[in-house]
Amino acid sequence: MTAIRVPREEETLDRLRRARRVVVLTGAGVSAESRVPTFRGPGGLWRDFRPEELATPEAFARDPVLVWEWYLWRRGLIGNCEPNAAHRVLARWERRFRSFTLITQNVDGLHQRAGSSAPIELHGSLFRTRCSREAGTAREDRRVRIEPLPPRCACGAPERPDVVWFGEGLPLEALQSALSLSRSAEVFLAIGTSGIVQPAASLPRIAAASGAWVLEVNPEDTPLTAEVNAALRGPAGVILPALDEAIEPRDPPSPTP
Ligand code: OAD
Repeated sequence: MTAIRVPREEETLDRLRRARRVVVLTGAGVSAESRVPTFRGPGGLWRDFRPEELATPEAFARDPVLVWEWYLWRRGLIGNCEPNAAHRVLARWERRFRSFTLITQNVDGLHQRAGSSAPIELHGSLFRTRCSREAGTAREDRRVRIEPLPPRCACGAPERPDVVWFGEGLPLEALQSALSLSRSAEVFLAIGTSGIVQPAASLPRIAAASGAWVLEVNPEDTPLTAEVNAALRGPAGVILPALDEAIEPRDPPSPTP
């Protein structure tokens, strides 16, 4: 018996138990139970802010101080959040499967804080900074207060958060790895993503077209739902521990004499 109702239960659990190559794509929903605001939906970040005023290269060129203030506010917010049970299961699954890859659209660093060693960050990280002019290496940056704003590179240009903005391409190497891993996945899980922001939203579809068994974990229907093999309805922090337990029941505690 599992704690969750798994659609097409026998086949889904069996495929996951036997899978050698598992790929997971996460979105903002995986961090919702850590109280990180999602982008869309109730309380979503784009409800209160207009993306084009804050998350575009044009917005940064127009008002780098405003853009930095928004990102520093988000750094502070996330600094007070802790990884949840879903992040922890995904960190453990690195050891559970022969090949396991975590691809995330999140910039919050919670997967790493839960113990995931090297998630592919498709949209960059809130906790890195780089030059806005030179294509150099980004550096880790956890500051929540910077004075004066914007910070400047040694070359004189303003530095920017190392995140992907609307209208920008994704980091090429990350995207290429994500595409090739999705093509060879046996089981692919799309967790907590609205499935509308491209190219990330194509990954589950590419995996499905290449023969993977695709699962969605989300409390709500998304545009992906109709295309997946099984949709698991509920919060990731509940569904993932239940799924983990279902594929690998822990030993019952030994009876005390
Ligand atoms: P969204 O905010 O678009 O979608 C969040 C999804 O998580 C929704 O489908 C919710 O139903 C679901 N959800 C909410 N609570 C959940 C929970 N407890 N467990 C599981 N799922 C839950 O976030 P993303 O799909 O990640 O890009 O958005 C994609 C990209 O759009 C973001 O990376 C960001 C944004 O614009 C950039 O900033 C480039």
